[in-house]
Amino acid sequence: MPGFSSATIERVRAASDIVDVIGSFLPLKKAGANFLALCPFHKEKTPSFNVNPHRQIFHCFGCHKGGDVFTFVKEYENIGFVDAVRRLADRAKIPLESSSDPAERQSRHLKDQLLEIHEKIAQRWQNCLANEAAGQAARDYLAGRGVGAEAVKLFRLGASPDGWDDTVNWARSKGYDPAVTEKSGLIIRKTEEGKPDEGRYHDRFRGRLMFPICDEQGRVIGFSGRILADEKTAKYVNSPETPIFTKGKVFYGLDKSKRAILDAGFAIICEGQLDLIACFMGGIQNVVAPQGTAFTEQHGRILKRYADEAVLCFDSDEAGQEAAMRSLDHLLSSGMAVRVAVVPAPHDPDSFIKEFGGKKFMEIIGKAQGFFDYYLTRLCQQNDPNTDKGRLAVLQAMADAVHKTGSAVLIDTYAQKTALRLGVAPEAVRAGFSRAKKPKIEAQHAGADAEAAAPGAAIRPPHQEFWLLKLLLLNDDLVPQAVLRLDTTWISYSIVRKIVEQRFAAQRSETWHGLAAFLDECDSAERTLVTEAVAEDRPIPNKEQQLSDMILKLRNQFLDRQIAELSQKAAQPDIAHAQQVELERQKQKLKEQKRAAL
Ligand code: CTP
Ligand code: MN
Repeated sequence: MPGFSSATIERVRAASDIVDVIGSFLPLKKAGANFLALCPFHKEKTPSFNVNPHRQIFHCFGCHKGGDVFTFVKEYENIGFVDAVRRLADRAKIPLESSSDPAERQSRHLKDQLLEIHEKIAQRWQNCLANEAAGQAARDYLAGRGVGAEAVKLFRLGASPDGWDDTVNWARSKGYDPAVTEKSGLIIRKTEEGKPDEGRYHDRFRGRLMFPICDEQGRVIGFSGRILADEKTAKYVNSPETPIFTKGKVFYGLDKSKRAILDAGFAIICEGQLDLIACFMGGIQNVVAPQGTAFTEQHGRILKRYADEAVLCFDSDEAGQEAAMRSLDHLLSSGMAVRVAVVPAPHDPDSFIKEFGGKKFMEIIGKAQGFFDYYLTRLCQQNDPNTDKGRLAVLQAMADAVHKTGSAVLIDTYAQKTALRLGVAPEAVRAGFSRAKKPKIEAQHAGADAEAAAPGAAIRPPHQEFWLLKLLLLNDDLVPQAVLRLDTTWISYSIVRKIVEQRFAAQRSETWHGLAAFLDECDSAERTLVTEAVAEDRPIPNKEQQLSDMILKLRNQFLDRQIAELSQKAAQPDIAHAQQVELERQKQKLKEQKRAAL
């Protein structure tokens, strides 16, 4: 494990009872020896999320996610293993040894400092907005835009005083090294061409309404600052990329909206911070905003963890509609279903909600067209479908867009709809679609699906092999004899085989630390299967006998598969006689092996 010794990890685990930890995130109800809840990882009405205190694991019978306490924190908070350990260590007040790698230690230290500076300056700007004379312009501005105290508090809005060295002086008075403050992006080093670098700094954010940008855990990692009056400067000034802030990986508001997105099953994507805040004030919380930056592949992946559908709701102006189009590639290739909602001109979501209310806005969201319908309409407005040139342009653009989904069903559906719009035969459009782009994506998707199938889908090995997992994983005392008698190549299902091999390896090297620790060694497909197998954990009667029978059956089925393969080879029409005899000999040998006792 990177960073921590296994002793440390086990200490943290021992101090993090899975029921306490998960119970602090969601309500758990006792059900027999286990606990039940509505699954936080998928949408459901009846609880299938199971927590087993005895084994210290969880498993959802609906979406098949499972794991130990670290897996839960990782998945719930969308963080890595190391951060999950850190989080739980914090909670249990266990000091962590620092990493032995000095470069990593230094980078961690810098990130911690930057987070602290961001948190502190956010507080300072909040205070300025609330209490100081320097915050008056921002207070007036918010009042003018109808942003109330509740939103100010929830989103931790602030005001940066209008001056060149307010932040510079503040940082100095707090004892922050100017070079570190510069790395936070809050101040900028003055350099003039031809002059020696004087090591002087000025503020990046001056006289602006400040929106803290948070990561998914709610930690402030950057800022966006809006001007307060019509000036010639940029409407928004944003934090640059820093060691803690990567634009393409962050959604504004996601830390506050993730639960609502899971519950609703879809995410509304607005352009700006103020749109999102207006949604919240209108009672709509399943919203994120990429904040004017291009929508990245990362964005698509992040969102897909929370929902399968996105509703784009951008400004009604041409710039907004263009921005919606640009967001699309990555949304579609992330595999999300996409709809497009359009607020009537000249509104944006913010002004629309302020004028008509959240309920009317939700009606628009509810009526949002599927993306391709929206796109087809838009293309037919931009190109004249009564001309050859126009028709070809529409056809080409639709083909390009639809192929991005990699879905044969969608490709066919929209070939038909496009044909209808263009007034041509569906066959012609279908042919045009397949000429327009050879769906290399089909192949990509097949690969991606095979991978993606593992965590989400129900994976079911043959019944017996599933039962073998149960026997071995729930009964440590059976493992020694299984190691001696079971040849893992007899197991047909590769994930089961790998799990059993790992379990055996731990036994042989005497490094078995229990099921929960084992889960951290598993990949996600293995973890799903392990937790599924052990989630229902009742005493198994007569287990030694069951194991013996099972091993025998697995061996015989293995031999049967080989015999069947030989028979198939022997049955081929062009096979030589000598080869046939040889195959028959091999078959007999296998049959003999089958009769042998174990
Ligand atoms: N944006 C930006 N830099 C700019 C303009 C915009 O980063 N110079 C981002 C901001 O995050 C903004 C979003 O793009 O919220 C959408 O831009 P726009 O529609 O112009 O801003 P609004 O959110 O509508 O802001 P306002 O209502 O205050 O005009
Ligand atoms: Mn706008």
